[in-house]
Amino acid sequence: MLKCFDLAGKTALVTGAGGGLGTVFSKAISEAGAEIFLAGRRESALAPVAEEIEKSGGKCSYASCDIMSEESINQAVEKCIEVFGKVDILVNAAGCNRINLSPMDTDTETYNKVVQTNILGTLNMCKACAKDMMKRGWGRIVNIASISGLIVNKGVYGGSYEVTKAAMVMMTKTLATEWCKSGICVNSIAPGYFSTKPNLDFFAADDTFYGKVMNMIPMERMGDPAELVGALILLCSDAASYMQGECIVVDGGYTCW
Ligand SMILES: NC(=O)c1ccc[n+]([C@@H]2O[C@H](COP(=O)([O-])OP(=O)(O)OC[C@H]3O[C@@H](n4cnc5c(N)ncnc54)[C@H](OP(=O)(O)O)[C@@H]3O)[C@@H](O)[C@H]2O)c1
Repeated sequence: MLKCFDLAGKTALVTGAGGGLGTVFSKAISEAGAEIFLAGRRESALAPVAEEIEKSGGKCSYASCDIMSEESINQAVEKCIEVFGKVDILVNAAGCNRINLSPMDTDTETYNKVVQTNILGTLNMCKACAKDMMKRGWGRIVNIASISGLIVNKGVYGGSYEVTKAAMVMMTKTLATEWCKSGICVNSIAPGYFSTKPNLDFFAADDTFYGKVMNMIPMERMGDPAELVGALILLCSDAASYMQGECIVVDGGYTCW
């Protein structure tokens, strides 16, 4: 491995680590050499991921964390610092999935849950970790946004999901400009359609929709979560030292059309 991608000696906190992309990211970051702290609402989902990482020789700990609560965020970050002494890398993979309702049918409470999770939850997690990163003058924050923050996905109701993902792309830029002088690089990744449970459930519920989506992807297939790992490790590492506020699109060409 090139030295600039090596994460040995670093500690990474990953939210949404109990499943889907968060689990794949946690294992990859551990493989790249970092100690890893898993956060998610369900400890029962985090425990087997931690066990697998430790069996492969990685160092891992975890805590339940609901990013809708600032208290829960602070407790998880404190536990990470208690166990590993610091947090160098934050990957915000926790997110509220698409609520496929038209704007007229989305009530304020439902909309607000998406805003609270995707925007405020991500922001509060960034703030809690950045405070510790600033002490050492080195940090990496990677927000998992979406192509839905850049374009409106044809065939599904975007509403709250698209709006909050667009906010995450812009929040990444604003935090980057605020914190870059403290040695913190804040960037985001915008995945297209990847084969995790929310998408698989979506397609199972309407198989004609699957065909329509494949038609809109130049590569005519969903992405394998492992195909996001290269972009992720780049943004977590020294290799990203001059990257700020960038959003890396990984979508099989979806946004080219
Ligand atoms: N898969 C894709 O194609 C795709 C495309 C674009 C963007 N994304 C984004 O990538 C991220 C991961 O998606 P995924 O496909 O892996 O879906 P997923 O399996 O549903 O992952 C979402 C994770 O977020 C956690 N979560 C939700 N609300 C939370 C809260 N309040 N506090 C803490 N954790 C919370 C969930 O864990 P618990 O329920 O255990 O808390 C879950 O592990 C999401 O932000 C999603 O929007 C995914």
